[in-house]
Amino acid sequence: MEVVINPSTEQLAALAAGAIDALLRRRPDAVLGLATGSSPLKVYDELTRRHTEEGLSFASARAFMLDEYVGLPLDHPERYRNVIERDLVGRVDLDPAAVRSLDGLAEDLPAACAAYEQAIVDAGGVDVQILGLGTDGHVAFNEPGSSLASRTRIKTLTQQTRLDNARFFGDDVEAVPRHVLTQGLGTVMSAKHLVVLADGRRKAQAVHHLVEGPVTAMWPASVLQLHPHVTVLVDDAAAGRL
Ligand code: GLP
Repeated sequence: MEVVINPSTEQLAALAAGAIDALLRRRPDAVLGLATGSSPLKVYDELTRRHTEEGLSFASARAFMLDEYVGLPLDHPERYRNVIERDLVGRVDLDPAAVRSLDGLAEDLPAACAAYEQAIVDAGGVDVQILGLGTDGHVAFNEPGSSLASRTRIKTLTQQTRLDNARFFGDDVEAVPRHVLTQGLGTVMSAKHLVVLADGRRKAQAVHHLVEGPVTAMWPASVLQLHPHVTVLVDDAAAGRL
């Protein structure tokens, strides 16, 4: 595990974008793992800049998203599929049809999860996976107590995560869905390179457990210690408990 501590979130974002940039220039049809939430936003800004100013192309790339809320209507602005189209896909030349996401409206949710797992395998696996961290140490939507070997499935959000995410739902915690679909920790762990971004003091405890804690399902991010290629990019505040 490589841990980079830098006071500038712009510089951290440039490191993450650099990893994707180098990969795509080497292998234009690489498979990207995309995350939503506030942590990767500057990475997506930097990728957009490199696309516009430096000719970085996503035209042959493929991508998989990490997770999705269950039950949000197709046009809901916080449906993660819509979020990623706004934050990245619609700003670069990434083909929306090449971006796979979980269907939180599927009639048969377990079948949709199983098909998603198979699609990742069929694509040859994710080459570089961008990850944020929940304040409770969740990765994607793998809440505390998640099996460290879990695959894509339905999960119930903790009250803490619903409170954390209420800011995206007009500060109304009741508007935050209770159920989600998420890649499992085992799924995330099968990506070839993991790039974790965290900033701010509210992430410091999760970063501590990610980097220095014992590996435990109570802090799901701690399982990443077992991955052979992880880059952790944190600002001074998020590194405050290391
Ligand atoms: C959310 C998402 C995660 C995200 C994390 C942190 O609930 N499901 O994929 O990484 O929590 O979010 P943020 O980056 O907004 O702090």
